[in-house]
Amino acid sequence: MEFETLAIHAGQEPDPKNGAVMTPIYQTSTYVQDGVSRPRDGYEYSRTKNPTRLALEACIAGIEGAQHGLAFASGMAATDAVLRLVDSGSHVLAGNDIYGGTFRLFDKVLTRYGLTFDYVDTTDPESVADGLTAETRLVWLESPTNPMLAVTDIRAVAEILRNIPNRPLLIVDNTFATPYLQQPLQLGADIVLHSTTKYLGGHSDVVGGAIAVRDQGLYERLAFVQNAAGAVPGPMDCFLVLRGIKTLPVRMDRHAENATRLAELLAAHPAVDRVLYPFHPTHPQEQVARQQMRNGGGMISFVLKGGAQAAKRVAEATRIFALAESLGGVESLIEVPAAMTHLSTSASRLAVDPGLVRLSVGLENSVDLLKDLREALEQA
Ligand SMILES: Cc1ncc(COP(=O)(O)O)c(C=O)c1O
Repeated sequence: MEFETLAIHAGQEPDPKNGAVMTPIYQTSTYVQDGVSRPRDGYEYSRTKNPTRLALEACIAGIEGAQHGLAFASGMAATDAVLRLVDSGSHVLAGNDIYGGTFRLFDKVLTRYGLTFDYVDTTDPESVADGLTAETRLVWLESPTNPMLAVTDIRAVAEILRNIPNRPLLIVDNTFATPYLQQPLQLGADIVLHSTTKYLGGHSDVVGGAIAVRDQGLYERLAFVQNAAGAVPGPMDCFLVLRGIKTLPVRMDRHAENATRLAELLAAHPAVDRVLYPFHPTHPQEQVARQQMRNGGGMISFVLKGGAQAAKRVAEATRIFALAESLGGVESLIEVPAAMTHLSTSASRLAVDPGLVRLSVGLENSVDLLKDLREALEQA
């Protein structure tokens, strides 16, 4: 089936008892058993298995072209579960532009458990080759990245890892692109990860995370961690993400249409030093982006000539763009990563330009968005 059909139907059948078209919210923690240790259909306890969550997990697998999906309580919970695949003493090679919360988990929590991390520019696949050690077990990248919208040639990185003895797993955080724009497993990644809080949920009303994999053994190891550590989403949250995914393709097309217009405005504006949008002709990896993504997505970052003060003034001046963290909802958001989402990277090598502003371009009419941004830029 094509993507749009999978987004609406994957993992979801009308209820066999009453024909309900929407997946019921199975708001239950436990299930009656037919005898001691005789659960019905394997349902014992909702941390382990819940029908609403199973529907979401099957849907995630369907839209990522995976065999298996796993849902988590947040994107960070999904990230944490992946890192639990490796033993103390392992080395993780990560991109040098990643979500601030991911860096914080790596740098402030997981280093205390015997993991070591290095950060390289994954847009240059040779840097990945150079950064590997005999202990590297995971290679972690975002594409496009948060917040610089840098694009990595996923196929090229997968190719580098392919012939390495004791091959590290390649994980792609696909939150910014979504499976509608880009399918990392098809490009050679082993694990795809999402903050479903963002485009998959799509309405800024739920926090969640997800993982998709093809390999049965990898799935079993991750499912074991999911149940053992227990960072699972509740059934209501699973329902909201399932509902959001149904409209993902139409939303992503409109997000990209609006973002393309705004990127043009920003590129031509005298207060703007540079605009970062994957499909814009000034983007350093535009060709790679066009090869592996269906469109440029809904995220734009731009650097103001006036630095941190100008960024603050612009972010505080918009009226339709709400000044808020997060992204991927129907409403447009604006933020200053160095002071907000990426504050945890401030004292590190991954520190973000203080003059950088990030937009999550929503589904409002582009005429209103252009006017709002143009007026706010006067404050720069
Ligand atoms: C690229 C990316 N990955 C992961 C996360 C973490 O997701 P969550 O906030 O759902 O825990 C975020 C959150 O902003 C993100 O932008």
